[in-house]
Amino acid sequence: MSQPSIRIVEVGPRDGLQNEQTLVPTRTKIELIDRLAATGLRTVEATAFVHPKWVPQMADATEVMAGLDPRPGVSYPVLVPNLQGLERALAAGAREVAVFTAASEAFNLKNTNASIADSLERFRPVLARAVEAGVAVRGYVSTVLGCPYQGDVPVADVVGVATALHEMGCYEVSLGDTIGVGTPRKAAALLVAVASQVPMAALAVHFHDTWGQALANILACVEAGVRVVDSSVAGLGGCPYARGATGNVATEDVVYMLDGLGLETGVDLEALAQVGGWISAELDRTSQSRAGRALLAR
Ligand code: HMG
Ligand code: MG
Repeated sequence: MSQPSIRIVEVGPRDGLQNEQTLVPTRTKIELIDRLAATGLRTVEATAFVHPKWVPQMADATEVMAGLDPRPGVSYPVLVPNLQGLERALAAGAREVAVFTAASEAFNLKNTNASIADSLERFRPVLARAVEAGVAVRGYVSTVLGCPYQGDVPVADVVGVATALHEMGCYEVSLGDTIGVGTPRKAAALLVAVASQVPMAALAVHFHDTWGQALANILACVEAGVRVVDSSVAGLGGCPYARGATGNVATEDVVYMLDGLGLETGVDLEALAQVGGWISAELDRTSQSRAGRALLAR
């Protein structure tokens, strides 16, 4: 079997659900993750071991991990903001974690109650402990193309934070357009600037679709060489610390576009659309995926 040429990191169960106002039943979260993993996705971000006061929707992280039916070949990373989060994640059986910071100070302070420098310092013991436990660590940089508080974010700031995460030992760094303001040329230029310091193979892109630019941005970044794309089934999501941020780009739309470009993802689009339709019904809303809706209407 040939290796998929683009790896999709499905973030729906975490990024997609974290902003839901009504608590989603734990069993629904578990079913969502298991169903996503059955579509051929190789990475399904499962939950977040953050403070439950800050993000109440993720308070059942331990129960979600305990209820999963892990598939061989699928990884289930979880977010951890600090050493305490990592210890909770390890106790719950996580084999991959992700740390997160931002390229803008104001956003990082709201999101993690720490300056960028302090958050990077917090990650050092997290990385050391994760290495000891044989657990892989991914890194996220938020607000790479704009910040809800600061506005423009200098490219050099993104390059600096991404490089610091990579040098610290993150095997992959995901560049997050948290509020979806980026446009294709800017997005590709940012990616190329970061890739001058961090190998392209260690970079991922993470677009929210607030301004309807996400697919165009992904195309520009794929053409610029990125091979890992974050997305969320049915376009679920938002960020609790970025008002008005909508969901990530919908996974169905990304897979449809990549299929059309002849780029392998290993994902069964029909099966994925079914999952998107099911979770949208569970949450009593219309799927934000255009491809998903089109497929289900046939
Ligand atoms: P803090 O209040 O500064 O933490 O929060 P602290 O270290 O001062 O500790 C205060 C209390 O929190 C203590 O309890 C700790 O035990 C507890 P107390 O003694 O008062 O009873 N605590 C914890 N409890 C459970 N799990 C933990 C934990 N850590 C401390 N891990 C903290 C700092 C980082 C914990 C908090 O700000 C937090 O949890 N933030 C999470 C915010 C979040 O989840 N945001 C969304 C995810 S990021 C995102 O969506 C962006 C992304 O998608 C990319 C993009 O789109 O840009 C990734
Ligand atoms: Mg996000």
